[in-house]
Amino acid sequence: MARSKGIEVIQHNNARVEINHDTQIVTKHYFRKASEFYVRREAKWLRKLTRFDVAPKFIDYSGKTIVMKYVGKAVTPETLPDDWEAQLNNIADKLVKVKCFYLDLQLVHLRVLNGKIRLIDFGQTRTANPARKWIPELIRERMLNIVSPLVQNYIK
Ligand SMILES: Nc1ncnc2c1ncn2[C@@H]1O[C@H](COP(=O)(O)OP(=O)(O)O)[C@@H](O)[C@H]1O
Ligand SMILES: [Mg+2]
Repeated sequence: MARSKGIEVIQHNNARVEINHDTQIVTKHYFRKASEFYVRREAKWLRKLTRFDVAPKFIDYSGKTIVMKYVGKAVTPETLPDDWEAQLNNIADKLVKVKCFYLDLQLVHLRVLNGKIRLIDFGQTRTANPARKWIPELIRERMLNIVSPLVQNYIK
């Protein structure tokens, strides 16, 4: 029988995240005020983005819990793929397409699995005001700015 890789639990201020490394399924349980609102919001964005494969595939949600696919480890000098710039541009293109105003950009929210970069944590994400078309574009510059220092420090 294959050895179980087990369940990893990560708890921050807003949610408890359980990663099942056998099934590659992630369960995020919000435990703050208005959790249902954040779950619905995150589910909405994961659904919109699922076909572009730039965020975790959406599986299900109910009450305060959302279920999605595992998308790997945070970007670091070691995990960052060579074509990171093209991948970040592609992610930004898709965010612009669905008018996604992603507000919570941090390196830990950019994950890498088998060389593919994806964005996580859409609980804070808003819809960009159509009158301000440039807003979703900001995320492109911000992603390139937070990731590029990893490369300069990278010693092969
Ligand atoms: N789909 C996922 N794949 C891999 N790791 C994830 C995934 N979702 C969450 N995580 C892990 O759980 C942590 C917390 O998830 P996140 O969605 O950022 O919750 P919070 O709202 O508490 O910040 C992330 O920093 C990451 O380590
Ligand atoms: Mg987070």
